[in-house]
Amino acid sequence: MTRTVYVNGDYLPEDQAKISIFDRGFLMADGVYEVTGVLDGKLIDFDGHRTRLERSLTELGIEKPAAFDNLLDIHRELIRRNDMTEGTIYLQVTRGSAGDRDFAFPNPAQVKPTLVLFSQSRPGLADNPVAKTGIRVISIDDIRWGRRDIKTVQLLYPSMGKMMAMQAGADDAWMVEDGFVTEGTSNNAYIVKDGKIITRQLSTDILHGITRAAVLRFAFEARLEVEERSFTIGEAQQADEAFITSAAQFVMPVVEIDGVKLGDGTPGRVAPRLREIYLEESLRAVMPPCRTLCGQPY
Ligand code: PDD
Repeated sequence: MTRTVYVNGDYLPEDQAKISIFDRGFLMADGVYEVTGVLDGKLIDFDGHRTRLERSLTELGIEKPAAFDNLLDIHRELIRRNDMTEGTIYLQVTRGSAGDRDFAFPNPAQVKPTLVLFSQSRPGLADNPVAKTGIRVISIDDIRWGRRDIKTVQLLYPSMGKMMAMQAGADDAWMVEDGFVTEGTSNNAYIVKDGKIITRQLSTDILHGITRAAVLRFAFEARLEVEERSFTIGEAQQADEAFITSAAQFVMPVVEIDGVKLGDGTPGRVAPRLREIYLEESLRAVMPPCRTLCGQPY
């Protein structure tokens, strides 16, 4: 089936979708994005992703696209047109195309932002067998820019980190700055010691994960202890468990860090439990037939 994508107001077959070669997203990585999970055909934490998108746009002084208030409908329409049950919806906004290359930002009264959305169907995401065995990570230096709280499309270094991990026979990389873990290439990082969940405090050093916020809320409700502070790779290697969170992977156990197995090298108890709660609660939150806009649930 040809995927239907969304580009600046139009729903198109993916091979007919076009963006200018002068688009600043292409030339300057001048854009931001969101990835929203889909379970059972319904969006997870849509409001959180929309709010973070608005913040990213404001921080970079990119205008909101005209369709901003219709984003929920566009997400739902892509799920419907692509007959999707599990996966993600990717959204990108760039500062648009001024019809030439120029370091100065174009006048927003003349150049409108580009808005693109597409679906990534991933049947079996909730039942991903990898969640049963866990993933292995390596550590790499965090050499990204200083505003990682803005979800920009500058993903070259995270992609390189992913490749370094794969070349080392691992699954992903945790980035380290000044001796402390910041986050994974495309996820937030956690360790568990004596039942306590430890994850880096929010700042401009990491992305403020929407899944992180939900998981910490569920952990609190389940009376699990949470400490938001930095930790080192050495401390992580001595932890009982570790895991990552993201909209694309939910909660995923980590069983090995730089070749050192955590505990007995299998997912512990806390991460699988949090994954279960996250899936249950996300489905429950999206299950009611109608929220604010009637017709389709999200
Ligand atoms: N990545 N940290 C980084 C650097 C990320 O790129 C992501 C998400 C997260 C987790 O954020 P959230 O829980 O809101 O998904 C943390 C997405 C999934 C991606 O780039 O595909």
